Amino acid sequence: MAGKKKTLTTSFGSPVGNDLNSMTAGPRGPVLMQDVHLIEKLAHFDRERIPERVVHAKGAGAYGYFEVTADLTPYTKAAFLSEKGKRTEVFARFSTVGGEKGSADAERDPRGFAVKFYTEEGNYDFVGNNTPVFFIRDPLKFPDFIHTQKRHPATNLKDADMFWDFLSLTPESVHQVTVLFSDRGTPATYRHMNGYSSHTYKWYNAAGDYFWVQYHFKTDQGIRNLTRQEAGELCGSDPDHATRDLHEAIERGEHPSWTLEMQILTPEQAQDFGWDIFDITKVWPHAEVPPMTVGKLVLNRNPENYFAEVEQAAFCPSMLVPGIAPSPDKMLQARLLSYRDTHIHRLGPNYHLIPVNAPKNAPAANYQRDGAMRTDANGGGAPNYWPNSMGGPVPDGVSDEPHIPLEGMGGRHEFNHDNDDFVQPGNLFRTVMNDRDREHLVGNIVAHLGGAQKRLQRRQAALFYKADPDYGARVAEGLGLEVDEIRALADMTQEERVQATAD
Ligand code: NDP
Ligand code: HEM
Repeated sequence: MAGKKKTLTTSFGSPVGNDLNSMTAGPRGPVLMQDVHLIEKLAHFDRERIPERVVHAKGAGAYGYFEVTADLTPYTKAAFLSEKGKRTEVFARFSTVGGEKGSADAERDPRGFAVKFYTEEGNYDFVGNNTPVFFIRDPLKFPDFIHTQKRHPATNLKDADMFWDFLSLTPESVHQVTVLFSDRGTPATYRHMNGYSSHTYKWYNAAGDYFWVQYHFKTDQGIRNLTRQEAGELCGSDPDHATRDLHEAIERGEHPSWTLEMQILTPEQAQDFGWDIFDITKVWPHAEVPPMTVGKLVLNRNPENYFAEVEQAAFCPSMLVPGIAPSPDKMLQARLLSYRDTHIHRLGPNYHLIPVNAPKNAPAANYQRDGAMRTDANGGGAPNYWPNSMGGPVPDGVSDEPHIPLEGMGGRHEFNHDNDDFVQPGNLFRTVMNDRDREHLVGNIVAHLGGAQKRLQRRQAALFYKADPDYGARVAEGLGLEVDEIRALADMTQEERVQATAD
């Protein structure tokens, strides 16, 4: 090769003469302490691993852009959404949820769908899933729920009893369980799935009017799923198939894209709406709130270094920009804290300086200083306190969001709306799914629930029966349970059902 090769150096730039032989006393002798190159190399190696994400540990990412295709100024004043044709650079990461960093891409699991928009008003993170709903609606249940998707504390094995015990004791999960055990629980690739906010968010315009919104990124590649059998085979033969697919498609110039559709409700419409818009176990029926097409997300560039750009990427639902705000959804409120908290644990207090996380198009200007791994100029000699009259950055009142009415007694409240948790999963089973979907759904459930204790099978089958009698009966038959008994369990209250299946 022409040209001079780069000299190998230590981390501090000192040339290394030999990188194959440790420094020893004689050819067979012990290693000398003065081999500082060996010591530095081992010390760095010893610290190569950072904590993996506690959920969504396995993932793949890519860069691209988002382009606005509609006039959104009536709904939001977000600058990156301010005009048709406007493009904003993005970084997206897709993931499975429960498995470890080395787990298989084809596992049955929701898929994470996270997009960081590098806007001129700072970074905006969309942190959604490929499912429009979730298993629980109170954040206090999240760590317990996740534990049931991980390994058993004694055996270190995935455990069907833990999984179904919790879900059958959490009836509001049946909608998401129905989505998860349809073939959408094993998407063919990350390119062939949708992304949903699942939560309701608040948008507000320049005049201070606000709206409740839900995001739907619809895949332009079309939905494609794996059957249970195909997914099982892929877990063994190519555990990284979706990571590979995303990378190779982009390398081939096949840039995956998604059309962003929004469901938008005025506060007045929300008041009369039949479904609790802050309950993440529910969707907004399309016929009642027709989605509006507003933009396109395109991924067209692979990262150059996985650890630097994908593993160190930090997405957080509280990374918001003026014009976009949280809703009172309890789960979302807890997420606003949890992600930043885990990022500080996983990446350190200055993780915003890592290039993939840095606000590329709106340099940060504040009074936060110091901390481990402060790798920028740390504010130099500029003022480090506010208020100051020394020319430091000043708060900008126009970034304040409009107020919303909130009231209530402080306390641990149950979800107290009268929405039935079984209507929407029933609709999904009866009216959205076709015969093949229903057959696969039942087969997928039977294959997994069949590994749990009989009493848990009965309790869970009764929840499916409550969603739709045919759904429950087919699961019961597949598991060899008495349909009459499942019907009787379905007719009970949840407390009675739990009592009847106690052991
Ligand atoms: P629609 O017929 O207007 O919409 C049905 C939706 O279901 C479509 O968006 C379709 O997605 C999606 N879908 C199809 N198969 C599955 C599956 N196996 N798992 C999850 N989603 C699937 O009906 P409604 O809006 O009245 O909703 C009826 C039911 O559809 C809901 O109870 C909910 O379970 C499900 N659903 C509704 C969504 C919503 O926001 N309203 C979003 C997603 C699901 P696609 O168009 O991409 O094929
Ligand atoms: C990742 C917490 C619900 C989507 C994470 C992480 C935590 C977490 C701690 C790891 C973050 C990291 O290490 O960078 C929670 C809590 C929830 C919750 C406490 C409920 C109270 C949800 C919901 C969704 C979601 C409802 C989707 C609608 C994601 C995604 C990631 C993630 C996509 C991965 C982001 C990435 O690619 O780095 N969550 N989560 N989470 N979560 Fe949640």
